[in-house]
Amino acid sequence: MELTWKGKLEWLVMAGFLYIINAHVSEGGITSSFLRSYNYSLDMPLDSDVFRVPPGYNAPQQVHITQGDHLGKGVIVSWITQDEPGSSTVVYWAQDSQLKLQADGFFVTYNYFNYTSGYIHHCTIENLEFDTQYFYEVGIGFTTREFWFKTPPPVGPDVPYTFGLIGDLGQTYDSNTTLTHYEKSPAKGETVLYVGDLSYADDYPFHDNIRWDTWGRFTERVAAYQPWIWTAGNHEIDFAPELGETRPFKPYTARYHVPFQASHSTSPLWYSIKRASAYIIVMSAYSAIGKYTPQYKWLENEFAKVNRKETPWLIVLMHSPIYSSYVAHYMEGETVRVMYERWFVKYKVDVVFAGHVHAYERSERVSNIAYNIVNGLCKTMNDQSAPIYITIGDGGNIEGLATAMTEPQPKYSAFREASFGHGILDIKNRSHAYFSWNRNQDGCAVEADSIWLNNRYYWTHSDEASLSELRHHEKVKQLAEA
Ligand SMILES: *[C@@H]1O[C@H](CO)[C@@H](O)[C@H](O)[C@H]1NC(C)=O
Ligand SMILES: *[C@@H]1O[C@H](CO)[C@@H](O)[C@H](O)[C@H]1NC(C)=O
Ligand SMILES: *[C@@H]1O[C@H](CO)[C@@H](O)[C@H](O)[C@H]1NC(C)=O
Ligand SMILES: *[C@@H]1O[C@H](CO)[C@@H](O)[C@H](O)[C@H]1NC(C)=O
Ligand SMILES: [Fe+2]
Repeated sequence: MELTWKGKLEWLVMAGFLYIINAHVSEGGITSSFLRSYNYSLDMPLDSDVFRVPPGYNAPQQVHITQGDHLGKGVIVSWITQDEPGSSTVVYWAQDSQLKLQADGFFVTYNYFNYTSGYIHHCTIENLEFDTQYFYEVGIGFTTREFWFKTPPPVGPDVPYTFGLIGDLGQTYDSNTTLTHYEKSPAKGETVLYVGDLSYADDYPFHDNIRWDTWGRFTERVAAYQPWIWTAGNHEIDFAPELGETRPFKPYTARYHVPFQASHSTSPLWYSIKRASAYIIVMSAYSAIGKYTPQYKWLENEFAKVNRKETPWLIVLMHSPIYSSYVAHYMEGETVRVMYERWFVKYKVDVVFAGHVHAYERSERVSNIAYNIVNGLCKTMNDQSAPIYITIGDGGNIEGLATAMTEPQPKYSAFREASFGHGILDIKNRSHAYFSWNRNQDGCAVEADSIWLNNRYYWTHSDEASLSELRHHEKVKQLAEA
């Protein structure tokens, strides 16, 4: 590469600038010194209390709900009957109302190697009132079971709402502790944002799908009462040509339905919802992501569509992190980063939650989007338009913790700790949200890490350090484009 004198000068000035920036930016974050008192536990045995089949002939089991439309006025109720199909109808009524309504669903079954599923029912209830408690009953005609949920308030910029963050949960004793902590948390999560890897059935010989059923029964105690917003992880792929199983995501998509058509997606693996003041985009790290692919085309429209005046909080969920400093799965998110990081920055995504790495990590606001093959500008730098990346793959599955970390801790990593736990995102209003992380070895109310998030859309460039950082970024971009 031949540089002109002007080019060389600019290059030197920039290199100097980079050096100064580096010298001023903090010392590469915190690697927690917390010492765990044990390693990790195994899956709970099949006869555990949490896996118990509910009593009664053909009793509905594995009941779970998720959002059923784009706005939060719909709910998808799913459950399984084992003995015979029975009814796919849900009877529901608002609290303090005598009027019982009903919605009709359908059921599916599937085979996986030598496993045959029960009757998997899905029923979408639509046009509910916002901000209302509903009771619902499934198992009509045989053994019925009753549950309840509360719809979110209407979508709007200052609607407070609390999300739980759980990932890579699995079904060990640790998983049970994570779920218990989430249930008992004084922060009172109203909806779970689940970042993928559910049952880990595929860790068993023949992907023993019995472990999908146990997971469904285990999580019912939370998932029947509040929506879980599902993201597909690598353990949902269940691709096993050696078993004759060549259709990816077969058990997952049969069991966990999501309202993907409501956001004009053509696949349940990527979709979006609005809920209160949040716009949540779910991506699939294990589907085609390249230009012109269905996911790309959908995302291209989707990001442009978000109205931050209506839903200020733009949140992305995907399984594989793009900024993780653990050794496990290091740089696996790189293809997604190369394709989509520039949109995260352009559209000022507030936070990207991922799982996959079985540990906790929170990043600085950084980006690395100036590279264009010839300019050599592939440096991760502070960027106030970039999201914070949070890895929350610490639900407690059978594979154990990702304890090995890359050293030294990179500058983009603000806090990291290999312990099991869960997160809470507490949105206060259009400008402020509070994120906290609970580790299982503390009490349910203890926050081992926390941070105030200033909304990226409403954030004003007030602090000088950030401003100079922004100017620097502009300079790099100009250079990249020159
Ligand atoms: C964790 O497992 C390793 C290897 O089995 C063992 O050496 C170590 O003592 C264990 N640590 C704790 C805290 O139990
Ligand atoms: C499926 O096949 C495996 C291996 O042959 C066997 O251990 C298991 O019991 C079978 N399960 C069913 C439901 O037939
Ligand atoms: C799971 O946790 C629940 C709630 O804390 C408890 O009642 C149950 O006994 C636990 N089950 C197992 C197998 O640890
Ligand atoms: C938004 O919430 C934060 C944190 O609770 C608070 O300090 C701030 O005053 C609120 N802003 C408005 C406009 O209410
Ligand atoms: Fe994973």
